[in-house]
Amino acid sequence: MIKLNTHNSRCRVAPELVEVSEHLVKLEEKDQGFYKVIDDPVDHILDFAKSVKDKYDHIAVLGIGGSALGTICLKQALGHLYKPSKLHVLDNIDPALIAELDDVIDYRKTLFIVISKSGGTPETVSQYFYYRKKCDDKGLAAKNHFVFITGRKGLLRETSEKEGIKTFDIPENVGGRFSVLTSVGLLPAALIGIDIEALLEGARKMRESFLNKDFEKNLPARLAAIQYMHSFTEKRNINVIMPYSERLIRFADWYRQLLAESIGKKKDVGLTPVKALGVTDQHSQTQLYMDGPNDKLFIFIKVENLGPNLEIPVLDESVNYLKGVTFDKLMHTEMEGTIQALKHNERSSVTITVPEVNEKTLGELFMLFEGATAFLGEFYKINAFDQPGVELSKKLTKELLTKR
Ligand code: PA5
Repeated sequence: MIKLNTHNSRCRVAPELVEVSEHLVKLEEKDQGFYKVIDDPVDHILDFAKSVKDKYDHIAVLGIGGSALGTICLKQALGHLYKPSKLHVLDNIDPALIAELDDVIDYRKTLFIVISKSGGTPETVSQYFYYRKKCDDKGLAAKNHFVFITGRKGLLRETSEKEGIKTFDIPENVGGRFSVLTSVGLLPAALIGIDIEALLEGARKMRESFLNKDFEKNLPARLAAIQYMHSFTEKRNINVIMPYSERLIRFADWYRQLLAESIGKKKDVGLTPVKALGVTDQHSQTQLYMDGPNDKLFIFIKVENLGPNLEIPVLDESVNYLKGVTFDKLMHTEMEGTIQALKHNERSSVTITVPEVNEKTLGELFMLFEGATAFLGEFYKINAFDQPGVELSKKLTKELLTKR
């Protein structure tokens, strides 16, 4: 079970925040699908994954933002940390990234999954055209090498209808950054053998908490209230998300987008997410966190079972304090030391503890942070589900290119 603990929090939760049922009614009125879509059947995804199991040596996801970050997170959290993966996620248009894919793939054995809710994001469309032309030039049928995951309208939808390219739907009421538990994250995950049913089971478990009207039992509401109060009463508008787990570092990237795009809406409203990794960043960021401006709330993620019980062999008596210590014990102790030191320096933090990183707990984590973000939107009285700033930069890029 996921637990949440606060450290050195003097902030009192404002009474209006604990009225969970009122916030849930308002959310329901917004008709958002992120907590409903996890009930949808996934047989079509599993059947497709099974049907192509031995067909492709490489899978290249073309997408950006919410169309890529969930998949990158899933791959890092549940894949091997060293073995090369057959899944490549191209979430940039740097020509080096585009060109060097050629060095590892054989086009005849590659499936490109083009993901775009709008179906027209310039980065994704450019990538699609580039690899599509390569396939066309090699005489490879698009139908055998491309799959689309897209919304109801747009270029990808039109192409799929014209050319019969296999297409998975993104529900209209699920926004890009909330879409990891739709085909956007589930299809690439299933293709690399991740148990997507367990992922959804975990998400459904956390949804029970998200829909619980008792504030104390509602983990997403409690997390959001802590974030909101620290920003509202103490001007701590920076949220450092710091998992003590190599597997969860890309979770921090996923959350960075979710928090930034959902809550950064008005001139004086926004939480700036910063990602950090325990213990690595203790040797890079902690000095600032301890002694620099007290403008941050720290969100630690502790993983109880980090993996194999590896004891550190002590080869010199000058470091006898390590005797009988395992790597996970060292990691947990360093985390505890950091929390205590922050507390000593009047800094606030919250720890989210997960038993281990697996499909179920990851599903729970996704739903915990999505739910908390939705509650934050209600607390700030903003629309957490649109992204006018992103749309504006997309529009201006298109205009600039048109005017050339
Ligand atoms: O959350 C969002 O809506 C955005 O960040 C999108 O995920 C991102 O801009 C990509 O858009 P699309 O999936 O339409 O290509």
